[in-house]
Amino acid sequence: MKYQEAFRESLENPGAFWSRAAEQISWGRKWDSVLDSSNAPFYRWFSGGVLNTCYNAVDRHVEAGRGDQTAIIYDSPVTGTVKKFTYSELLERVSKIAGFLKSLGVQRGDTVIIYMPMVPDAVMAMLACARLGAIHSVVFGGFAPRELAVRIEDAKPRVIMTASCGIEVQKVIPYKPLLDEAIKISAHKPEKCVILQRPQVAAELKDGYDFDWAELEAKAQPETYVMLAATDPLYILYTSGTTGKPKGVLRDNGGHAVALYWTMKHIYNIGPGDVYWAASDVGWVVGHSYIVYAPLLIGATTIVFEGKPVGTPDPGAFWRVISEHKVKALFTAPTAIRAIKREDPTGQYLKKYDLSCFECLFLAGERLDPDTYFWATELLQKPVIDHWWQTETAWAIAGNFKGLEFFQTKPGSATKPMPGYDVKILDSGTGQELGPKENGVIAVKLPLPPANFVTLWQDDQRFLESYMNPYPGYYLTGDGGYMDEEGYVFVMGRVDDVINVAGHRLSTGGMEEVLATHPSVAECAVIGVADDLKGQVPVGLCVLKAGVTQPHEEIVNQVVKMVRDEVGPIASFKKAVVVSRLPKTRSGKVLRGTMRKIADGEAYTTPSTIDDPTVLPEIEAALTTIGYAKK
Ligand code: COA
Ligand code: AMP
Repeated sequence: MKYQEAFRESLENPGAFWSRAAEQISWGRKWDSVLDSSNAPFYRWFSGGVLNTCYNAVDRHVEAGRGDQTAIIYDSPVTGTVKKFTYSELLERVSKIAGFLKSLGVQRGDTVIIYMPMVPDAVMAMLACARLGAIHSVVFGGFAPRELAVRIEDAKPRVIMTASCGIEVQKVIPYKPLLDEAIKISAHKPEKCVILQRPQVAAELKDGYDFDWAELEAKAQPETYVMLAATDPLYILYTSGTTGKPKGVLRDNGGHAVALYWTMKHIYNIGPGDVYWAASDVGWVVGHSYIVYAPLLIGATTIVFEGKPVGTPDPGAFWRVISEHKVKALFTAPTAIRAIKREDPTGQYLKKYDLSCFECLFLAGERLDPDTYFWATELLQKPVIDHWWQTETAWAIAGNFKGLEFFQTKPGSATKPMPGYDVKILDSGTGQELGPKENGVIAVKLPLPPANFVTLWQDDQRFLESYMNPYPGYYLTGDGGYMDEEGYVFVMGRVDDVINVAGHRLSTGGMEEVLATHPSVAECAVIGVADDLKGQVPVGLCVLKAGVTQPHEEIVNQVVKMVRDEVGPIASFKKAVVVSRLPKTRSGKVLRGTMRKIADGEAYTTPSTIDDPTVLPEIEAALTTIGYAKK
């Protein structure tokens, strides 16, 4: 089947399209209906079906006689380790981890938070939860205690699993103090914590509350998988919304397994036994889908890489891993490629390695700028595929295909809508569908395909208000852009207050909430400005309370530290400036978009709704002092 036929069938007859895909998954009981629309927009895929995701990702490969095949390669330049786990070994460890979680009281439907660095044990912990029917919520290690606490309060985990430390190039970051602090400030307290002691740092354990992972695993009884409803939750993954309160994206079991399996063959051209590498982190959706679930569902080998594109030890790290482990496809963010390009513009490091095994580079997480696209294509002499997706969707909304059909690429475009996604461009004011080359908000006509989020964790109302109510019958992606006459999708960036820093999604609203608590700050705004390496970085503008005499430099240093301490280093919030006022509309809305254009040195028009246009030159002058607003 080629793209056009697949795309048409997926929209006209989703039942036929997805039930065929579902044949690839092992079910305890087949579904009653492929798509249940009775409670739209809360659509349900494979209602009545029964399965276990962990069984499909691990056990069944062992049962099929492929237990000796490598499931996970842990490659950690920061610790000098390369370790392989076969599917049989993975099954043994996951069963034992499930066993000790059960002995700690974790049952089907309970939540478990996993706050871990990029070690294989993190993957195993996720699978162990899936085995028991417990709902995991992985929190990225670069988040500060306050962010972790917000997630603990919302997910209310029975148990938290962590490691004694993470390693950032040469910095060893003890995790246990961060976890202790988060539990202290959270209203919800988990019953127990499990700590993986790493040799670099020994965490102090509280008797009867903190448990040593290795000790628990050594004495655990292996636990088998629990059959679950296809519609039972698999995981919650928090992502940034426009406010400081993150959104708990909820994903179910059945549709997730079906769609992710489909993507491996058709998008990535990966089958059983192939080596596939998503150079991301288990804390992000890319990590959930393409480090853990999709490659294991199809029986491939996945790589858990604890390192960076540069500095571990050099910009050849990615090429070394590809060549050493015979990687067929690499998935990373454009920012990683820009980091390599900056340190090795002529590709000298690449020349050291044999990349004949390598077939294709996949990029996502932020807009792929044409410069990076051309540089990577030229360097690798292999296809470079941009694909656009979100935490909410779990897989690409638009992209190109290595398996189904490869289209001529257009730099700046994520290529074609994926089967299952009826992508439309809407006029933001009227909600009318727009024609080719007309810019608007990007929406997807409902229903969304399987694996997409089913709601926000215990917040149906926010699910409706944020995504479904603005344009009834459509899912609002939050991105803006256009489609051309040939149906290529061009994603130009967020239309809300979400920014993308090094492929990481962050809320400017959340950072503003932190700045606003500084005693000298009366009001503030955080905007995402263009950055050569990270795509965007946040910059703060602070208006001080009347009578404040504190030196501006001191205030700036303090707010920078506050964001680092309260949101986390991953926010990359390094610059702020004091201004006498902020530009606003007559109704009091801060004109962040106009400030962003000024900061980026772009041409801008003074909005007709502005309260006082004389503020704009002041903003421009202030941003110039910190290196922005250069024409
Ligand atoms: N635990 C603790 N701290 C972390 C962390 C973690 N898991 N991950 C990142 N941090 C810290 C970093 O050490 C850094 O701290 P610093 O301010 O003290 O230097 C800060 O958070 C910002 O991290 P990062 O965005 O990774 O910036 P960097 O300058 O260290 O590296 C890149 C730049 C481009 C190499 C890096 O951003 C990268 O590899 N990006 C790829 C992104 C990616 O894979 N995205 C996933 C979506 S597909
Ligand atoms: P996240 O939920 O963290 O995966 O971030 C999703 C957001 O990242 C999207 O809403 C887009 O703004 C951006 N994004 C992801 N992939 C792409 C892409 N290929 N092109 C443009 N923007 C992208």
